[in-house]
Amino acid sequence: MSNAAISKRLGNPNDEFYTLPETVEGELKHYSAFLRGKRIYLPADGPESAFVEYFRERFDALGILSCTATQYAPGGIGRKTVITATGATVEPLQGDGDFRSAECQGILAASDCVITNPPFSIFRDFLFSTLEAGKDFVFLGNILGLTYSAVFDAFHAGRFRLGYSTGSQTFLRPDGSRQALRGIRWFTSFAVSPSRPPLRPAATFDASRYPVFDRFPAVRFVRTVRDIPADYPEALAVPFTVFDFDLTGWEVLGRVGEPRTVNGKRVFQRAIIRRLHK
Ligand SMILES: C[S@@+](CC[C@H](N)C(=O)[O-])C[C@H]1O[C@@H](n2cnc3c(N)ncnc32)[C@H](O)[C@@H]1O
Repeated sequence: MSNAAISKRLGNPNDEFYTLPETVEGELKHYSAFLRGKRIYLPADGPESAFVEYFRERFDALGILSCTATQYAPGGIGRKTVITATGATVEPLQGDGDFRSAECQGILAASDCVITNPPFSIFRDFLFSTLEAGKDFVFLGNILGLTYSAVFDAFHAGRFRLGYSTGSQTFLRPDGSRQALRGIRWFTSFAVSPSRPPLRPAATFDASRYPVFDRFPAVRFVRTVRDIPADYPEALAVPFTVFDFDLTGWEVLGRVGEPRTVNGKRVFQRAIIRRLHK
């Protein structure tokens, strides 16, 4: 059996990180105005999901129109949870509940907004299915999702932005243990405007500390956001956590192309920014 077939049958253990209620509430409390009157779809959630719990408890208060959750059962029959003002009902789906199945895409088509912590292994599929269907979304994911070129292009084009909560988040694992993961961010199509600290670099440029890329000699490699030089007016390749800052006064030029090497060594993907000239 191929790896893809095995993973389809057994599921990918790296996808099983369940969101805690406080994580869901901490972010979604900022979206009430966007959610009013909306048909909401939770596409990777069983009846015990903190997202289901959030909407079940606030169905009336949020003034949402409907809320449907589907849960994936690799190689089996998935479950559908329908939340109403009076509670939730659970019924079997016809298929396995794969978000990409015709059955789930039908539920997507009949919704306005998709909300979940999707599986990281197919984060791109969730994002692009939702974008292509023209639906709004709020997804929890890893900032490393931005390293995928198509994801970064959609972000750079303003099709979605980062949400409110930043930093590490604790998740529940299938065995009941808790695990903190770094780099977790919310990604949303809604026009949220969290207040972010301005990017005010304090480091001083020194050519020996900021090497250029082997194939892109006009771009300087910067190790951490804290290392961004205050006095360098050209292109700087910086970690994606730069988007936790208010980038007024800077322009985002794109991301580094291939091959992504500095002095012959491959480096992590980075965004390219430049100070705007006054
Ligand atoms: C990161 S977990 C989060 C679960 C839940 N949304 C939460 O926040 O607690 C992602 C879930 O997506 C499910 N999943 C994996 N592949 C899927 C697919 N193709 N379609 C829908 N769900 C999938 C996994 O089984 C896993 O439970």
